[in-house]
Amino acid sequence: MSNNLVAFMYLISALLFIFALRGLSHPESSRKGNIFGIIGMIIAIITTLMFKSVLSYAEIGAAILVGGVIGTTIALRIEMTALPQLVAAFHSLVGLAAVFVAAAAFYDPASFDIGVIGSINESSLIEMSIGTFIGAITFSGSVLAFGKLQGTISGKPIVYRFQHTINAIIFLFIVFLIIIFVLDQSPSIFWSIVIISIILGILVVIPIGGADMPVVVSMLNSYSGWAACGIGFTLSNNLLIITGALVGASGAILSYIMSKGMNRSIINVVLGGFGGEKDISSSQNSEDKIIKKGNAEDAAYILKNADSVIIVPGYGMAVAQAQHALKEMSDILKKEGIIVRYAIHPVAGRMPGHMNVLLAEANVPYEEVLELEEINPDFPMTEVSFVIGANDVTNPAAKTDETSPIYGMPILDVEKSQTVLFIKRSMATGYSGVENELFYRDNTTMLFGDAKKMCENIVKSLN
Ligand code: TAP
Repeated sequence: MSNNLVAFMYLISALLFIFALRGLSHPESSRKGNIFGIIGMIIAIITTLMFKSVLSYAEIGAAILVGGVIGTTIALRIEMTALPQLVAAFHSLVGLAAVFVAAAAFYDPASFDIGVIGSINESSLIEMSIGTFIGAITFSGSVLAFGKLQGTISGKPIVYRFQHTINAIIFLFIVFLIIIFVLDQSPSIFWSIVIISIILGILVVIPIGGADMPVVVSMLNSYSGWAACGIGFTLSNNLLIITGALVGASGAILSYIMSKGMNRSIINVVLGGFGGEKDISSSQNSEDKIIKKGNAEDAAYILKNADSVIIVPGYGMAVAQAQHALKEMSDILKKEGIIVRYAIHPVAGRMPGHMNVLLAEANVPYEEVLELEEINPDFPMTEVSFVIGANDVTNPAAKTDETSPIYGMPILDVEKSQTVLFIKRSMATGYSGVENELFYRDNTTMLFGDAKKMCENIVKSLN
């Protein structure tokens, strides 16, 4: 394939990836976006396979087969609630790939057309070491994030004094090592950059935990894009540079939006460590407090007599797969002339857009689904807030309790409505491990049970 044809095909792929991102930015167009992405990737792979420099189709075919089987099996088996850790695991592989490609180029520069051993082009050495640095950080940070999200290691933030200063000093030391590496091209300096970057990746992620983990996942997503971009420079592959930059930039924008949503500073996100420095146990003093319990009939009665209802879905709705029963319930209420809307918190569930996807699956009209800023002013005028499997995203401690790890995170103001109905199975805390004082308020009724069963029983009572 001629160079011009390769450039043209890569340009088409890059455009399709941009259309894919555009499509994925709205639930209605997301399927189309996905298809654009798939076509773009197929064109990119076929074009790359047509390179004259390809040495062995058998090896590439075997790698595609093994990777494809593993990827398909995981995609078919994965629970939607486990997606964040899966994404983190995949990011770690992108980071590792960046390190391996850089090592391959360093040890066999002639194959990459970047000079010979001991006399590699300066610009290639800079690209290589930056790619290695970002790749190694992405790798270790993602492995740690995977462990925290999967629960194999404690999700509790680990914080200590001068954390940011130490991270900044390590970063400057890596910059120093990169300069030395470019000057003397020593393998030991190359591997020092890898090891110290791996340590920095761990240090950047350990102070983040609890409710702030979504921001880490999107930040690592961005890092993995920049790592891929770095590999693109090492391999002189324009498409990889463009695709990496697209992932890096969109991940950075998502991190910005999410850190804004969580009221955290983006600088802290990048440097590592925010929130979570407080003692979680301080807000837990639940003994002697009284809760009001209800059942499906009580809930049906309260809902039927309301003029307006705001449904607040959370992770528990996803676990119970309650969205269809919930939609059935809201259809009955709407037939009674009750205004029903859905309030979505930016980090509800376990991945960005988690609730939107589930509600779309149940055919909830998009115009009934509102974001936090749009719906929060309406809670004081609302009779019933119907909280289904959500916890952290409604916890008023985020507004009032300065000692709480979730302090500062914006929440859905459900407590301002006349009545709050809370479906969950127990008094357990949510992801952040912080108790929700809302359960003890006078206007709250707890509906203990599985979210799906409870909705089905409410539907029965309504009928
Ligand atoms: P959480 O605060 O995690 O609360 C979910 C609640 O659902 C739990 O308290 C649980 O209580 C209940 N639940 C679980 N299974 C249930 C079932 N079958 N039926 C009924 N209830 C059930 O969820 P949230 O309010 O959606 O907040 C999300 C949290 O996850 C935030 O802290 C966020 O930072 C974090 N997070 C978010 C993401 C993204 S990107 N969205 C990624 C990682 C982490 P019981 O056990 O008592 O039933």
